Amino acid sequence: MQIGHYQLTNCLISAQMSGITDRPFRALCHTMGAGIAVSKMLSSNPKVWRTDKSRLHMVHSDEPGLRSVQIAGCDPDDMAAAARINVASGAQIIDINMGCPAKKVNRKLAGSALLQYPDLVKQILYAVVNAVDVPVKLKIRTDWASEHRNCVEIAQLAEDCGIQALTIHSRTRAFLFNGNAGYDSIRAAKQNVSILIIANGDITDPHEARAVLDYTGADALMIGRAAQGKPWIFQEIQHYLDTGELLPPMPLGEVKRLLIKHIRELHGFYGQGKGAPDCP
Ligand SMILES: Cc1cc2nc3c(=O)[nH]c(=O)nc-3n(C[C@H](O)[C@H](O)[C@H](O)COP(=O)(O)O)c2cc1C
Repeated sequence: MQIGHYQLTNCLISAQMSGITDRPFRALCHTMGAGIAVSKMLSSNPKVWRTDKSRLHMVHSDEPGLRSVQIAGCDPDDMAAAARINVASGAQIIDINMGCPAKKVNRKLAGSALLQYPDLVKQILYAVVNAVDVPVKLKIRTDWASEHRNCVEIAQLAEDCGIQALTIHSRTRAFLFNGNAGYDSIRAAKQNVSILIIANGDITDPHEARAVLDYTGADALMIGRAAQGKPWIFQEIQHYLDTGELLPPMPLGEVKRLLIKHIRELHGFYGQGKGAPDCP
């Protein structure tokens, strides 16, 4: 799969999850077979980047794999500026968040709240795409609510604005993270646009991954919560997609080795003071 001029090693993407997908976790997912691991959402307001915590969460040019950074906000000029600054700091792909259901984000008309305002969506997408010369992706929920369905309209608008790939989390904003994921809107979007479609939501094992790809016709899959505690899910899914066979469970000794390596990397990244004092 190719996003812009970047060739991905496969069609499996590790989802951005605030508070979880820090640099050590992204590196782990990359080693375990994710084609891209997207960094967490950064506000488009540069004032909030001055804290040490925010600086830690920006991408670093020595990260393994493709460096994709997500930005969130509702002002087209601020979003364009945020995209430029992140590209200057090493981002190779910009991802725009229009999927976040959190009230504190939606109150500022950012994240999934924007899906109610297609004209503003269009202004933001144009501004960001024209601000940078790297590929721009968009991430959305299927719709704001069941009675406000416009997934296909947003997908077409994204295509018209020059977005290169669209990730669709298979729930309306109203469903937050609960309720069965419905993949019909993703399938409809895929049938109506020619940009890359990335299906997301409740993919927890190789069989589901195959089923979602087959049903939606999506070009790629994004996996979030199922990778927490089991980052090797990417290689399990890839093996199944390639061969139709399931890998045997990862030996416990290998799980222990990965766990300890991950803890060491967390200590290295955040400093010894923020982790457990000793690690075997
Ligand atoms: C703790 C947590 C934090 C998240 N943070 C973000 C975020 O910053 N940006 C975003 O686009 N999605 C975020 N998400 C949504 C995930 O990227 C993903 O769309 C969602 O979890 C559905 O995929 P899954 O069923 O594979 O987990 C977050 C999800 C969780 C559980």
